[in-house]
Amino acid sequence: MHVVITGTSRGIGRELVNRYQAAGAEVTGTSRDHSSGVRLDVTDPGQQARFAAQLKGQPVDLLVCNAGVYLDKAMAMEDYSAEVWGKTLAANVTGVFLTVQALLPNLRLAEAPKIAILSSQMASHARAPGGSYAYRASKAAALNIGRNLATDLLPEGIAVGIYHPGCPSSTLQNYI
Ligand SMILES: NC(=O)c1ccc[n+]([C@@H]2O[C@H](COP(=O)([O-])OP(=O)(O)OC[C@H]3O[C@@H](n4cnc5c(N)ncnc54)[C@H](OP(=O)(O)O)[C@@H]3O)[C@@H](O)[C@H]2O)c1
Repeated sequence: MHVVITGTSRGIGRELVNRYQAAGAEVTGTSRDHSSGVRLDVTDPGQQARFAAQLKGQPVDLLVCNAGVYLDKAMAMEDYSAEVWGKTLAANVTGVFLTVQALLPNLRLAEAPKIAILSSQMASHARAPGGSYAYRASKAAALNIGRNLATDLLPEGIAVGIYHPGCPSSTLQNYI
């Protein structure tokens, strides 16, 4: 089993690498600074193209779109800038789509391919406690991308799940 996980320099991504390796999987991790696995800034189309070229012809059984940022944690309304919005949407939304797009040929080579997208319960429309506007909006968009990818990729047998870490997608969907 070949697992590709983005954003493995630390946090959940790094732990996923450890756990999949311990379970015997071949794991390709990525990081922006080359500290772990292959170099990939998910927002950079050039790096996405190089990453795809490096993996050309290799089946990918599971792609975990884990890389993400939470730049507006506890941010006051007056501190929001276009830069905060741009960087958040680039990593958490565009980055997810570009990664799936780049590795689709590899997923198509696997027998039962799966894509896991790390969204968040903060994507919920039903639970709106306020604050974290950019992060919440970005994770809602990631959820939306995942739901529509699931529809488009179903005929090819590529499963797409959207997750709040620790919860299956069915639980996340209960929040929406
Ligand atoms: N932790 C939670 O409680 C929680 C809850 C809900 C959802 N999530 C989601 O789960 C995922 C992992 O969370 P975490 O807590 O492990 O986060 P984290 O500790 O902040 O790690 C995020 C990872 O993403 C990488 N990353 C950020 N921007 C990137 C980019 N443009 N290109 C490539 N890699 C990039 C970081 O790399 P650098 O080291 O280069 O910055 C880092 O490896 C995120 O998508 C997060 O939103 C987490």
